[in-house]
Amino acid sequence: MARVLVTRITFPEFIQELERRFEVEHNAEDRPWPKEELVRRLAGKQGVLSTVMDRFDESVIAAAPDLKAISNIAVGFNNIDLAAATKRGIRVTNTPGVLNDTTADFTWALLMAAARRVAEADAYVRAGKWKIAFGTEYFLGADIHHATLGMIGIGRIGQAIARRAAGFDMRVLYHDPQRLSPGDEKRLNATWVERDRLLAESDFVVVMVPYSKDTHHFIGAADFAKMKKSAIFVHTARGGVVDDAALVEALKSRRIAGAGVDVFEGEPALDSGYLGLGNVVLTPHIASASRATRLAMCRLAADNMALAIEGQRPPNLVNIELA
Ligand code: DGY
Repeated sequence: MARVLVTRITFPEFIQELERRFEVEHNAEDRPWPKEELVRRLAGKQGVLSTVMDRFDESVIAAAPDLKAISNIAVGFNNIDLAAATKRGIRVTNTPGVLNDTTADFTWALLMAAARRVAEADAYVRAGKWKIAFGTEYFLGADIHHATLGMIGIGRIGQAIARRAAGFDMRVLYHDPQRLSPGDEKRLNATWVERDRLLAESDFVVVMVPYSKDTHHFIGAADFAKMKKSAIFVHTARGGVVDDAALVEALKSRRIAGAGVDVFEGEPALDSGYLGLGNVVLTPHIASASRATRLAMCRLAADNMALAIEGQRPPNLVNIELA
C-alpha cells in the first residue's frame, strides 16, 4: 500500500476510508505542522493531502524525494510552488467544482449580513441594548432586491454567485478578461462591462478571482474610490487578492458603506483595523465549510491523490505538463 500523509485533523470517517486504501499517517491535533515537522513526516510518503495552511516551497519539495502527489483539499493552490513540483515530477491536484454552491451560498450570507447589518444587530440584542421594541429608524440597511450586483471574476464560483441574484430580481454586471459565451450571459442575465463602470454602478461588489502574483492586491484604494458611497463589498476569494489596509480605510472613512470578508492576507492574523469597525462582517475562512462539501473536498482530494500515485492523470491535475 502507498504511504500517505494527511497534514491536518479531519473527519474520522474520512480517515477510516483512507486507511482502507493507503498506509496513513495523519495529524490528530488541530495544529498545523511547522515546516521542519512537515518535512520530517513527509519522509517515505508517496502522497500528501494538504490544505492551504501547508506551504510546499522549493525546499520542502526537494526534501521529499519519494513524493508523487500533493493533493490540496482546496480549489486554491497558491500554497504550493508549482514549478518546483513539476520539475520533480510531482503531480499537484485541487478540488474544484464540489464547493461552488456552498461557497456561493456563503458569499450571499455575508452580502446579506453586511447589507442588513445582521452581526451588528445581533451584538446589540446580546448586549442588552434593545430597550424599545420597534423604531422606524432602527438598524436601517440596504435593499438587496432590485439592486445591482457587480462580479469581478466570473469563473465557476462567480457564476454560482451571479445565478443566485435572479431570486432577488437584481441587475448583474460582470468584469472578467474571459467573457462568458452569449448563452451563459443570457442564462445568468449578466452584462460584461469595463471594470470602472462596474465599480461605479454596482450596489454590491463581489470579487472572485484566484490568488497569484498577478492578482496580489487586485482590489485596492483606487477601486474603493470608484465605488458608490453606499456600496457593500464582499470578499470570499483568497487572502491577498484585496489590499486589507485599503479596505479598512475605505470602511473607516465611510468611503463605502460596508463589507463582508472571509479571507485575509496572512490569516489567521488580520489587519487589526477591521476589529474596531461596525460596518464589516468578519468570518474565519469558512465559505466552503458545510459538512457535506468539506467531506466531498476530502474525498475528491483522496481520489486525485490515488491516481497521481499510480502515475495516472487525476481529473483535477493542476500542473498539466505532467498529464
Ligand atoms: C479553497 O478551496 O481554496 C478554500 O479557500 C479552502 O482553502
